[in-house]
Amino acid sequence: MALALCLGVFSTPLSLATPPAASDPQSAVNAAYARFKGDTDGKNADYIPALAKVDPKLFGVALVTVDGKVYTAGDVNTEVSIQSISKVFTMAQVIQEQGPESIEKRIGVDATGARFNSIIAVEAVKTLAGTGAPEMNPLVNPGAISATSMVTGASADQVWNKIIGTYNDYAGRSLNVLQDVYKSESDTNQRNQAIGALMFAYGYIKNNWQQAVDLYTRQCSVGVNAKDLAGMAATLANGGKNPVTGKQVMDEAKVPQVLAVMATAGLYDDSGKWLYQTGLPAKSGVGGGIIAVSPGKFGIAVVSPPLDDAGNSVRAQRAITAISNSLGGNPLAAKPK
Ligand code: DON
Repeated sequence: MALALCLGVFSTPLSLATPPAASDPQSAVNAAYARFKGDTDGKNADYIPALAKVDPKLFGVALVTVDGKVYTAGDVNTEVSIQSISKVFTMAQVIQEQGPESIEKRIGVDATGARFNSIIAVEAVKTLAGTGAPEMNPLVNPGAISATSMVTGASADQVWNKIIGTYNDYAGRSLNVLQDVYKSESDTNQRNQAIGALMFAYGYIKNNWQQAVDLYTRQCSVGVNAKDLAGMAATLANGGKNPVTGKQVMDEAKVPQVLAVMATAGLYDDSGKWLYQTGLPAKSGVGGGIIAVSPGKFGIAVVSPPLDDAGNSVRAQRAITAISNSLGGNPLAAKPK
């Protein structure tokens, strides 16, 4: 498998062991940080050369509650590229502006069962064209590049300002593109260019697929730290209102659709396993970040670059699972009050 070769073989299963009980968020965050600090499993992504150079020891944990309290441990200030986590917020931008059905009809909201940059998945969608909603989603590369192409604007700059403006509102501060990552990925994104061209050829991208691929590459290169990511996740947990800045970024009624796609496709072909263990809508990026949302409770994010074979941060999965389970964050385990 191409990605397995890129990421290196890693097969240690995630631990399902129950972490020590923690009564409050800061204790839960501290306990997970201490427990996984020395964990060196996984390997940085290297198919984007700049990602291979990021310090694999970087480990930051952040949790933001829906009432705006922030709990952190480790390095929560160093930025990594947001990578595929960006796909959530571009999808959210399109859903906010054009309605949930726009994404459902054009791209689809079903898991592909394939790797995030699968071209076979594009061919499968093509074969099914006209038989109903496409079997694709905005969290794999073909669907994400298509979602970026749906953001409206008279010029590339206008589209970009809308995308970065949305990310800033979710994060609660002005974010910037990490230029070294953008250049590195632009120099090596021929596979995404092929995907963009195919999605255009098959009618999922309506025009200017080159612009869509470039803006997608730029959005993936936005720099974020664990605190930014936790704030973005907490905004989704809080019905679309950033709990720190108080800004309503998305209509509350449209948030469940965003969370639904995260639940089914957020950790790619390991999404089922992840949901089984945590119940949390989540999204990973090959920069090493993962966000997870406990609706009505908190958003959580961990940054740790080494990934498993599916492209998901190993320590981030372990730390989020431990923290959420110790705080009762699993929405599928909700009991009647
Ligand atoms: O398009 C790519 O390959 C990257 N910019 C993003 C991939 C990614 O983050 C997949 N994540 N798990």
